[in-house]
Amino acid sequence: MTWRLRNAVPADLDDIMWLERASFPTDAWSSAQMAAELHSPYGFYVIAEQVDDETVPTVIGYAGIASLPADTVADVQTIAVDAARRGSGIGRALFQALLDEARRRAVREVFLEVRADNPVAQHMYERFGFEAIATRPRYYQPDGVDAIVMRRTTPTAEEESSDGHR
Ligand SMILES: CC(C)(COP(=O)(O)OP(=O)(O)OC[C@H]1O[C@@H](n2cnc3c(N)ncnc32)[C@H](O)[C@@H]1OP(=O)(O)O)[C@@H](O)C(=O)NCCC(=O)NCCS
Repeated sequence: MTWRLRNAVPADLDDIMWLERASFPTDAWSSAQMAAELHSPYGFYVIAEQVDDETVPTVIGYAGIASLPADTVADVQTIAVDAARRGSGIGRALFQALLDEARRRAVREVFLEVRADNPVAQHMYERFGFEAIATRPRYYQPDGVDAIVMRRTTPTAEEESSDGHR
């Protein structure tokens, strides 16, 4: 499988929503919410698309981050990869693209929330240097699952190159 990353555009909405509903069966965002994300001047969304010969590119993952102008804090909005293509580095590449954007924006801290029952995503965030700093009880409804709030202080370029993902 050959895939690549590109910046998302509003025309990607339907493809993203298909993945969104499949990836978050009980708490998917609405199409209107996602459209607002894709149009927001404060957001940055990236797409992974499969590009095999003789086929139209297929969206197989997406991720987004947002920060207000001149703010030193950014929030990871979402990330998902098509279930059939997980475990092959696509999520890592998408997430790295978000952190690269945070660096371009001179963000010093990146925050995210992750379900307490999602060890795969938690593991990925820890691998990128995020640390759990708080719990929001029953944050995810209707499931009543806690959110773990995670934070990463943006390392310098030197720190990042000398310490694996970081
Ligand atoms: C989380 C998600 C985006 C990861 O995407 P992916 O393409 O499978 O991830 P990758 O193959 O790039 O792996 C990235 C990291 O995820 C973690 N990971 C992936 N599969 C894992 C598994 N089966 N068990 C534990 N950790 C796993 C690892 O830390 C891995 O990095 P490493 O191999 O360097 O340690 C994907 O599982 C997904 O879409 N899940 C459903 C949606 C979701 O939960 N989104 C997060 C919301 S907070």
